[in-house]
Amino acid sequence: MDCREFVEEQIAQLRDTVGSGTAINALSGGVDSSLVTVLGHQALGEKLKTVFIDNALMREGEPQAVVKTFADMGIGVELVDSREEFLSALAGLTDPEEKRQAITDTFYSKVFGRLVKESGAKFLLHGTILTDIEETVAGIKRQHNILSQLGIDTEEAYGYAVLEPLKTLRKDGVREVCKFLKLPAQIAERFPFPGPALATRIVGEVTRERLATVRTATAIVEKELAGTKAFQYLAVLLNDRATGIRDNKREFGQIIVLRCIESTDARTATATELPWPKLHRICQRIITEVPDVNRCLYDLTPKPPATVEYI
Ligand code: XMP
Repeated sequence: MDCREFVEEQIAQLRDTVGSGTAINALSGGVDSSLVTVLGHQALGEKLKTVFIDNALMREGEPQAVVKTFADMGIGVELVDSREEFLSALAGLTDPEEKRQAITDTFYSKVFGRLVKESGAKFLLHGTILTDIEETVAGIKRQHNILSQLGIDTEEAYGYAVLEPLKTLRKDGVREVCKFLKLPAQIAERFPFPGPALATRIVGEVTRERLATVRTATAIVEKELAGTKAFQYLAVLLNDRATGIRDNKREFGQIIVLRCIESTDARTATATELPWPKLHRICQRIITEVPDVNRCLYDLTPKPPATVEYI
């Protein structure tokens, strides 16, 4: 791919389509939405409004860190606190698909829909890539960022047209363009993190307390495994408890699963052969530093049959 040609073409097309109107986009901090934000700002400048929606499901310090990365590049991003709305939409839900649906609905129909209306923008920039389209069309995954491919007319349903400048690229192409544009490594080399965020790593109900548990465990896992070459690593909170003993007292504690995988495209994966001392260290930190957790398990299951995430 000729990156220069790609960038010039997309910028020209965005300018052409948006014309004298305005556009809006939601930045998640992932590599796709980050590249769309940068391209959009190069094409449209002040005519593009970028928001980061804090859905309560992000990792430790993530919303502020993403906003700062873009501020350092001269791109203003508005941080929108929608934590309560997402938490109340998720309250009481335990079925994985219902949880995903609640997040999608809250995002598009409520929070983002409202922001688009308030902004008056008729165009929404979206970081859809080719793999998202293929997987959605094949019914492999109901990615929440695909609408037109599912037959949803966004103009009719939500009042805006969706522009997808990355829809011919795969992940490696996206990273190549990021490098061509000299975007910082925390964007270009950022490792995969799902749209529904920590909700994909909580089995059972997503509550503020349970999010805090998985968030603390995630921070430990990401810090401990930062130097490895693994494709992805994560912490999961199970919806079960196990008996343990702490300070000579019986306790019925929570269980965290450590998942660390080798993969090239996340379609198939195998568990990483982590060194035993590293596994012990992570286990030790999780059972001492994460309140109420008294067991930590390492998931050895390949994909398939297991998926990477737990919901
Ligand atoms: P699964 O769990 O399907 O994950 O084996 C494969 C890869 O996709 C990521 N993933 C998602 N990414 N929205 C995303 O943007 C999602 O809903 C989603 N679900 C899973 C996952 O982290 C892994 O890299």
